[in-house]
Parts: sequence; structure tokens; C-alpha cells
Amino acid sequence: MVPKRRRMRASAAVSSALPSGRFPGVALFLVERRMGRSRRAFLTRLALSKGFRVLDSYSSEVTHVVMERTSAEEAICWQECAATASPGRPHRGPHPALLDITWFTESMAAGQPVPVESRHRLEVAEPRTGPLSQDWIPPYACQRPTPLTHHNTPLSEALDILAEAAGFEGSEGRCLSFQRASAVLRALPCPVTSLRQLQGLPHFGEHSSRVVQELLEHGTCEEVERVRCSERYQTMKLFTQIFGVGVKTANRWYLEGLRTLDELQEQPQRLNRQQKAGLQHHQDLSTPVGRSDAEALQELVEAAVGQVLPGATVTLTGGFRRGKMQGHDVDFLITHPEEGQEAGLLPRVLDHLQSQGLVLYHQHHQSHLGDLTRLTQQKHTMDAFERSFCIFRLPQPPGAAEGEALGSWPIWRAVRVDLVVAPSSQFPFALLGWTGSQLFERELRRFSRKEKGLCLNSHGLFDPEKKTIFHVASEEDIFQHLGLEYLPPEQRNA
Ligand code: UTP
Ligand code: MN
Repeated sequence: MVPKRRRMRASAAVSSALPSGRFPGVALFLVERRMGRSRRAFLTRLALSKGFRVLDSYSSEVTHVVMERTSAEEAICWQECAATASPGRPHRGPHPALLDITWFTESMAAGQPVPVESRHRLEVAEPRTGPLSQDWIPPYACQRPTPLTHHNTPLSEALDILAEAAGFEGSEGRCLSFQRASAVLRALPCPVTSLRQLQGLPHFGEHSSRVVQELLEHGTCEEVERVRCSERYQTMKLFTQIFGVGVKTANRWYLEGLRTLDELQEQPQRLNRQQKAGLQHHQDLSTPVGRSDAEALQELVEAAVGQVLPGATVTLTGGFRRGKMQGHDVDFLITHPEEGQEAGLLPRVLDHLQSQGLVLYHQHHQSHLGDLTRLTQQKHTMDAFERSFCIFRLPQPPGAAEGEALGSWPIWRAVRVDLVVAPSSQFPFALLGWTGSQLFERELRRFSRKEKGLCLNSHGLFDPEKKTIFHVASEEDIFQHLGLEYLPPEQRNA
């Protein structure tokens, strides 16, 4: 069977190849921002089934742009960006209509494009000129959509380096400040081109503003370059990228004068079993895992889980669920519809995978679930699920590595895999917790605590005043309990 993603891509390609549909003068473009990728794919299929022409990318052919939960101001801003980014969209002919989703749903219900009325239009009398206004960039990352690709990559990457470097120095607060400022940039609908646009944006303190100013004026930031090239940053980055090495260990090694992987290899007595495996497979593990590898792994894990416990499900989480094409590892969440059936599943699954020669390393952690009220109040990031940190030996299809001469392709590669098992009643919380991004999760928990007085983690949502636990069936339910608009995984790339 063709994996879901590939099926979706195939259908999208067909849609743009279709000539003109049933309604020749009409070509729709659905904006993914705020709508989310999966809903956009669903609405696209719906429109295609009704004979509408739906274009995959924004071009001069588009006549109707459809947006969801978008203000007129944002819509205009989006159009300015899209027009710049699309050279095939010259300013001849009228601009396409910017429409709210209501036009789309009415048209689908009618089975034909309904006449555009002013209530459908996303338009403001005055074009946007002033700074981006604060009221539509809320302060918590969980209150706003953050797509994977955005308009401020060079700026956010610079702040990410400063955040990472602060993390290496153990400065949690500074690290978070830079991360939050970076996340705001990634949520903006337009590129920032002048410092004025930062006015009123949350989390832009003096330091982050100064970095952006320097980048806008000179194209580089002296501080960022200094950090990036420093021995300290480079060594800490090298060491913390090793499987099993955190900031504390990396820092200790650095202070002891260690600088290279070779020096570590020469001192095996310093390394635990996990770190030894990490070093042994370092070259593979520092090569990003692609989506096709993640999908191949899912099939292998699904087969093993299906053998051991029929009816159990395997969900791809982490960055891949958020739409990333690459990751540093592959995260899977396993559950079974009948609560309790899932207990003690992993050793049997790993035995099965091991007998196929697919496991290079694994480290099992038993669950310590116990009392749910107590669990939901645990603050630390480590959850209590049964889990296994693994390195898999993933067979590679021929031609997997570009430029490999046929016959000499790598036959397998090592991949970091996390397997986590959740009881079905906690599954939506575990799914939300393991989908990330890390900052998104932090913000979600902080929002729950500070704004709602509730304790959220990967096990549940707890009201400490009423001493009650929320029962949910889906991620959507959790957002609803928190009074937040639902954000699909593709919009959680904070
Ligand atoms: P990852 O570290 O795998 O990040 O954690 P990622 O977003 O998938 O990115 P790459 O591509 O692999 O680098 C995935 C999610 O799982 C949660 C993290 O909060 C993150 O959101 N997580 C991770 C936990 O809840 N507990 C853990 O022990 C580890
Ligand atoms: Mn991951």
C-alpha cells in the first residue's frame, strides 16, 4: 500500500494537472496557514470531487483565494508576501478575491461557486502600512499557528544559535527568551524588513531586537558569528549531538580539555553503554533521517507490534508528525484500544525486531504509572510511560544515498528511534506531548498553569483546586478544555 503522505502528494499533483474542472473561470487556492496541511488536503479533495479546479501553488491563474480564521489585515499581508514570492504572478488583470472559508463551504454545499458577496471578502479599506499590530500575535506559542516554513528564517536561525549557546552555559532563562523571540518571528505572516515591525511584538526585548537590527542593517550579527565560530560552542554542539550526552556531561568534558570525538574514543572508561553506542554509530546518527526512512521504520515497527499484540496501533509523532521532512530521530507512540493490554509490550516487540537483526542498541525503561492524580502533577519533562531508546539497523533501498554508484550503496544505516507506550486513556495527552515542538509543549504547559491554573503533562490534565482530572478522547478535546483554538500538528512548529 502506498503510504498516506505519498498518496496525498500524488493527489495534489493530479489536482494541479487537471485542465479546468467544471467551472472554467474559477481556480481555487487554499491557504495552508491556520488551515493546516491535513485539513487543506481534505478540503482540496472535497472541492475536486465537486468538479472545482484547485491549484497547488499560488500563481497568476488563481481566481479565488480561500483562508480560514484569518483577519482581513493578515489576508492582505499574506497576499503581499505571496505576490512577491510568486514571480509568475504579474500585476496584470484583477487580483484574485481573498475569501473567508464561508464562501468555500457555501459553494461546496451548493455544488457550484456561489456569487462572492462582501461578507465573504477579507478586505480592509486601507492597505497595511504600520507595524505588525500586537493584538494578533498572542504571547504564548500555543495560542498561534507556527508553520514549518516561514518568512523569517535568517533572523530566527540567528536567535536560535544564541538560544542554543545560552543553553550550553546553563542559562535557562536567556535560552528561553531567545527561543520565544525566534518563535514569534516564525509565526509572522510576512518577512520583517524594518525594526519598526518589531514594535509591540511579544518577547522582543532589547537583546533580541538588537540582533535583528544588526541583521537587517548589515546582513550578519557580530555576536552570532562570534558564538558560531567559538571553540566552546562548536565543541558543546559536537558533544551534545552524541546519543546519551547532555549539556552537563558535555560541559564536564569540555572543562577537562576534551575537544574531539577521537579523544573520546580513546577514553572508553568515561562512556556509559548508551554513549558508546552513540559514538560507534555517530556518523549515521548525525546524518538526518528522511521521511521515507521514517515511513519504512513505521512499517517495520507496525509489523512487529501487530505480531506481538494484534489491535495495537503505532503512531509516528515528533517532528515528522509536524510535517518535517527530516529529523534527528524517529518517535513512535504505541497504544491498544483495550486499556491494560499494552502493559509490558516493548520487551516482546524488541525481541521480535531483534530476531530480524534490526536492533543495534536498546535501553528499556519500565513504566511507573500508578496514581494518575499524582502523575498529572509531575513537573519534570521525563514522563512515566514504558519506553525504549533504540538504535535501529534500517535496510536502505538502492539509490538511497545520492551519487552512490550502483552496487556500492549503503546496505543499511543506523537510526535513533524512540518507542513509547501509553494506555489508551492517556493516549491523546501522550500524543500531544510527543508531537512537540519542545517549545510548543513548554508554552502549552506554562499557559495551562499560568492562565488556567491547570496542570498539563503527557499523562493528563488536572485541576488542583477541584481535584479533578479531565477525560478526553482526542487532542482537540484538550485544546478545548484549555480554551485554546485547535492547532493541527503542522502548526505547532514553534
Ligand atoms: P524530539 O527531541 O525527538 O524532537 O522530541 P523533534 O521535534 O521530533 O525533532 P527532531 O527532528 O527529532 O530533532 C519530540 C517530542 O517529544 C517530547 C519533546 O517534548 C518533543 O516535543 N519528548 C521527548 C518528551 O516528551 N519526553 C522525552 O523524554 C523526549
Ligand atoms: Mn524526534
